[in-house]
Amino acid sequence: MWYLSRHRWFFVGAAILIFLGFVFVQLHYQKKIETYQLKVFRVIAQCSIDLVSSGYFQWTELKMAIEQNDKEFIEEAFKEIKSLDPYIKKIEILDQPPNFEEGYYHVESDGERIWVRFKIYDSMGEDMIPNKTALVEWDANRILNSIGASVRFKKGGKKTFWGLEYVSNKNDWFFVSFQGTIVGMILMMAFHVFFVNSVLKAHYETEGLERIVNIVGRKDHYTAIHSRNVSKIAVFLGEKMGLKRKDLKALEASGKLHDIGKIAVPEHILNKPGKLSNEEFEVIKRHPQIGADILREYPELSSIVSAVLYHHERIDGSGYPEGLKNDEIPLFARIIAVADVYDALTSDRPYRKSLKPEDAVNLMKEMPLDQKIVEILATHLSEIKNLKPST
Ligand SMILES: [Fe+2]
Repeated sequence: MWYLSRHRWFFVGAAILIFLGFVFVQLHYQKKIETYQLKVFRVIAQCSIDLVSSGYFQWTELKMAIEQNDKEFIEEAFKEIKSLDPYIKKIEILDQPPNFEEGYYHVESDGERIWVRFKIYDSMGEDMIPNKTALVEWDANRILNSIGASVRFKKGGKKTFWGLEYVSNKNDWFFVSFQGTIVGMILMMAFHVFFVNSVLKAHYETEGLERIVNIVGRKDHYTAIHSRNVSKIAVFLGEKMGLKRKDLKALEASGKLHDIGKIAVPEHILNKPGKLSNEEFEVIKRHPQIGADILREYPELSSIVSAVLYHHERIDGSGYPEGLKNDEIPLFARIIAVADVYDALTSDRPYRKSLKPEDAVNLMKEMPLDQKIVEILATHLSEIKNLKPST
């Protein structure tokens, strides 16, 4: 994944920040969640204890069975209790008096486990067996699990009701934080790829292209001004032809970069006042190919390579580098060709004076250019004149 390798430290830093963020949120809510879950636990446990107390240990038949040591009856009753409350671990009858005064039962704990001692009454709650106590042990942690609690009872934890002590299930929030970090990172990568792509594109479409044109301008002033003019004229023609915004952007870039290959042409040939020799012209003719080769290095500019490569092709096949004809020449290249020729004819050159726009258009009507595009140029000539402040 290229973005991970190229932006490694950015992602490591972001991952740590996101992780800390999740941990902070988790810690903040952990306490509230724990308090709530312990309340729920207490309600469930209280209900279970009350049920066992009023349903079984205030029941004349069971009291009598215990007094008479009717093991079969007692066992049946205990089985019934356990089937009603699966969180009960064991039930015993102790041969000792209840060691508490108030109420029907008493809850005890060693911090981790929970026992309840019950006085054994008749159904009216009046007659009690004085020398026997029922002892029921609940599996407190199973009750916690059943409500999906993020805490468990464990000795040495935080003190809470009934002498129970609890600790947080740290693994839980760590896991949530970890998962959160992964999700956060994926979202961020997606955002990052989108962001980088759009910024990169915007950069190439605006600043980047301007800088490239300026670099060309240092060596070849005419080409820099000419490229900006061609760009404006090409976009204007594209608008009149009803092209979409995306295509207009590509035309703008094509215009600015159509002669980029000229950076490989020696200065004395580019700015030669007189006529070029055949050899010199051959060197000039390489610039579309060189320009296309340069642009192929930039995936963001791949859509304009063909416009740059074929901007000197002519519809009768007399152009270069490949001698394409008519529709074989891509539309953008035909538009750039018209803008290019118009701007060149209406500009002062070392070897000739500029033509008036009207004369230039008349001349172009005789040239092997896409005449539909020349026609658009002719129709809107007054507006196009205003696009060229540099003539
Ligand atoms: Fe050119």
